[in-house]
Amino acid sequence: MRAESFGSDRPPAGDAGTAHVPVAVPIAAPGRPHFRALPPLSLYVHVPWCLKKCPYCDFNSHAVPGDSADSVPEQAYVDALVADLETALPAVWGRRVETIFIGGGTPSLFSPAAIDRLLAAVRARLPVAPGAEVTLEANPGTFERARFAGYYAAGVNRLSLGVQSFDDASLVALGRVHGAAEALRAAEAAMMIFGNVNLDLMFALPGQTVAAALDDVRAALAFAPPHLSFYHLTIEPNTLFHHRPPALPDDDTAADIEEAIVGALSDADYLHYETSAHARRGHVCQHNLNYWRFGDYLGIGAGAHSKLSFPGEVRRQLRWKQPRRYLEQVAAGVPLQEDVAVERATLAFEFMLNALRLADGVPAALFAERTGLPLASVARTIGAAAERGLMEPGPTLLKPTALGRRFLNDLQQMFLP
Ligand SMILES: C[S@@+](CC[C@H](N)C(=O)[O-])C[C@H]1O[C@@H](n2cnc3c(N)ncnc32)[C@H](O)[C@@H]1O
Ligand code: SF4
Repeated sequence: MRAESFGSDRPPAGDAGTAHVPVAVPIAAPGRPHFRALPPLSLYVHVPWCLKKCPYCDFNSHAVPGDSADSVPEQAYVDALVADLETALPAVWGRRVETIFIGGGTPSLFSPAAIDRLLAAVRARLPVAPGAEVTLEANPGTFERARFAGYYAAGVNRLSLGVQSFDDASLVALGRVHGAAEALRAAEAAMMIFGNVNLDLMFALPGQTVAAALDDVRAALAFAPPHLSFYHLTIEPNTLFHHRPPALPDDDTAADIEEAIVGALSDADYLHYETSAHARRGHVCQHNLNYWRFGDYLGIGAGAHSKLSFPGEVRRQLRWKQPRRYLEQVAAGVPLQEDVAVERATLAFEFMLNALRLADGVPAALFAERTGLPLASVARTIGAAAERGLMEPGPTLLKPTALGRRFLNDLQQMFLP
C-alpha cells in the first residue's frame, strides 16, 4: 500500500492525534458498533487527470483530453465537487473537518483560482478546524512558481510533490513528464513558498543500485523537507508495466536498497513512522495519520472513497470513477456508486490493517473508540500475534514488533475475518 492520499485510491500516525468535536451517539444496539464519540473527520478531494498516464500507476487518473492541460474541464469539475459536497452534507452534519487533502491524479493541473474557489466552497459549507493541514499534490511537470504561490494564497499550507527520483535516466524509465532539473526547481520553490513539504520518491526502480538510491536520498535531504515518502515501486495489474515489465532489481537488491534508504533517513533524524513515510519531528502527515488511526473521511470527486461512522454502523462509500460518468451522476444528484455498511468482523480487520502500519502502534483504547466494538473481539488474535513475536505483549498498546513490521502482511492477515 502506498501513497499519501488515501481517500481516493488508497487509504493510510506518529505523534499527536487530530482534535475533533465529539458528537454524542445514543443507545448501544447489541452486536452493532457503539461509539461514545464519532472519530475525527478528514476531507479528501480527488482530481482525476494527469498530463500523461505513468506506466506504473493504477490510481484513478487519466491523461488530459487532447494531451493539453487547457482541456481539463476545471470549471465544470469544481462545480461538480461543490454539488457533490452538498449532497454529502447530511452525512456529516455538525462535524468539523480536521484536515483536507487534494490528491489525484494531478491537482496541480488546476489553476490557483479553481483551488481557491473549491476551498472557499468547503469553508462555506463545513466548519474547518483552525490551522487545519491542507495538502495539495503537485507534479513537477506542471510547476510554475506563480502557481505554487497562488495555491498558498488560496489556503493550501502543505505541498506534496511527486518527484519519484532526481535521476534523469530513472525518470525516463518511469515515463515521467519531467526531468531532474524540473524536479529540483519545483522542490526548491515548494520549500520557499510552503516550507511544509512532502517529497514523494519511489525505490527499486528499473536498474537501480543501492548507490543510485542513496544519491536520491541525498538529493532529497538537500532540501531538508519536513516529510519524505519512499514507496517501493510495485507492478500493479492494469498498468503498462504489468504488460511490459521493466528489468527491476531482484528481491535481495530491493531489500538492500530499502535498508540503505531507511538507515540514511534515520541518520538524518527522520522518524520512520509508517511503512513508507518519514518525517522530521512534529511533521507527521495529520491527514494520513487520521486514516491510519481509523478516523473518518469524506472523499469527494471521481472514484473517491469515504469511510463514515454513524450511530450503530460504519459505512464505506465509493463515488463514480470515470470522470465523465461522475460529472453526469453528480448532475443527476447521485454521485455514489456504492454505499455499504461495514460488517463487524471487517471493521476489526480494517482497524488492525491500518493501525499496524504505524511504527508506534496505537493505544489499545483506540480500538473500541474507532470501531465501536469491544477490544475483546480481537484479544485472542492479539495474543497469538504476541506469542509469535509479531506484536508487543501488554494491554495498553497495539504495536507491531520489529519482526512484525518486517512481516507486516503476515501480521495483518492474522486479523482477516
Ligand atoms: C497521486 S501521485 C502524486 C502526485 C502526482 N500525480 C505525481 O505523480 O507527481 C502519488 C504517488 O504514488 C506513488 N506511486 C504511484 N504508483 C506507484 C506504484 N506503482 N508503486 C509505488 N508507488 C507508486 C508515486 O510516488 C506518486 O508520487
Ligand atoms: S502523474 Fe501521478 S497520478 Fe498521474 S499517472 Fe503519474 S503517478 Fe499516477
